[in-house]
Amino acid sequence: MTDVTTTLHVDLGERSYPIYIGAGLLAQQSLLRQHIQGQQVLVVTNATIAPLYLSQVMDSLHGLQAESLVLPDGEAYKTLDTVNLIFDQLLASRHNRTTTLIALGGGVIGDMTGFAAASYQRGVNFIQIPTTLLSQVDSSVGGKTGVNHSLGKNMIGAFYQPQCVLIDTDSLTTLPQRELSAGLAEVIKYGLLGDADFFTWQEQNIDQLLVLQQEQLAYAIYRSCQMKADIVAADEREKGCRALLNLGHTFGHAIETQQGYGNWLHGEAVAAGMVMAADLSWRLGWLDKSSVGRIVDLLRQAKLPVEAPEDMTEDDFMTHMAVDKKITDGRLRLVLMQHLGDALVTSDIAAPLLQQTLQAHRVN
Ligand code: NAD
Ligand code: GLY
Repeated sequence: MTDVTTTLHVDLGERSYPIYIGAGLLAQQSLLRQHIQGQQVLVVTNATIAPLYLSQVMDSLHGLQAESLVLPDGEAYKTLDTVNLIFDQLLASRHNRTTTLIALGGGVIGDMTGFAAASYQRGVNFIQIPTTLLSQVDSSVGGKTGVNHSLGKNMIGAFYQPQCVLIDTDSLTTLPQRELSAGLAEVIKYGLLGDADFFTWQEQNIDQLLVLQQEQLAYAIYRSCQMKADIVAADEREKGCRALLNLGHTFGHAIETQQGYGNWLHGEAVAAGMVMAADLSWRLGWLDKSSVGRIVDLLRQAKLPVEAPEDMTEDDFMTHMAVDKKITDGRLRLVLMQHLGDALVTSDIAAPLLQQTLQAHRVN
């Protein structure tokens, strides 16, 4: 067990909360306990994570009315039906308004548990314990919660902030390599959208990140969370700059929806989507060709896909992109890059250039 290495804060007035980052944090029982307000707790996790980390979390809750709910694992289960299982257990065990829901898992568990916490009795306490790199650097921070609909990803949800985010970097030691890479896609996203030096640092440290070198890993998580916390503090409800966090996501969500949730991992789809965003940024005369090359190279080194699925047509993309949440007044809005480390949201996109990007990334 080690001490907390870092604490960041998401500054949202009375809804502000800390993000704890460090190795061995799950063993520090007081860290979790201080954010539980009542006597009732429900820990929501899944069948993969439960055997690895649930008992450690339950140990911290000794003396409380603490229960767990183990859901099936997978993006395909990120549905209203699954969230209903959380409500079933809360009601069956008579959880009241002072209960605390703890999400122990990746983004799927975090998004669903947060949504359940936002809705149960119109809102109860909620704690995030993210166990994938992707959820540690992105989904656990900022309060976006929700589920998928068959017609669109993350289309049903709520903004609902947790009491705290507890990131134990040791939990990444059990994460499959493919999931680690998916998380690296979101880390790379932060460099691209707002910090060219962080991108360069990643180019220099990608090998260490892939083998979970503690120092590099902790810094990558810290810097990513810091960037996200700043953006969320400035624009919690995504009226402005928060949309930058969706770099690569409009193309990526189209890939995820078309391929069936879970076949392409979210981070993989975002990686291919960031390449498409880079390609379009270049066609618009913004990003230079060598930066596009650096982006592709880093994503490849992180073992991520850099092309959309071969069987996806331009029409497929346009159909799925038409339900994107960033659409306003019927106009598609995309996050593109003026330079590496400098992104913007724009709807000023010449249709033929978008068509060229979509065609460049399909085979038929
Ligand atoms: P995930 O939750 O499906 O987890 C990936 C896999 O890793 C699962 O099989 C899970 O059981 C397993 N796993 C988790 N932790 C593990 C560990 N420590 N050891 C071994 N296995 C472990 O996927 P994810 O990538 O964490 O999250 C993706 C989801 O997050 C998507 O639904 C996406 O839409 C959402 N998301 C939300 C936000 C947000 O702001 N709310 C941001 C980005 C992504
Ligand atoms: N992952 C995008 C956001 O939190 O806004």
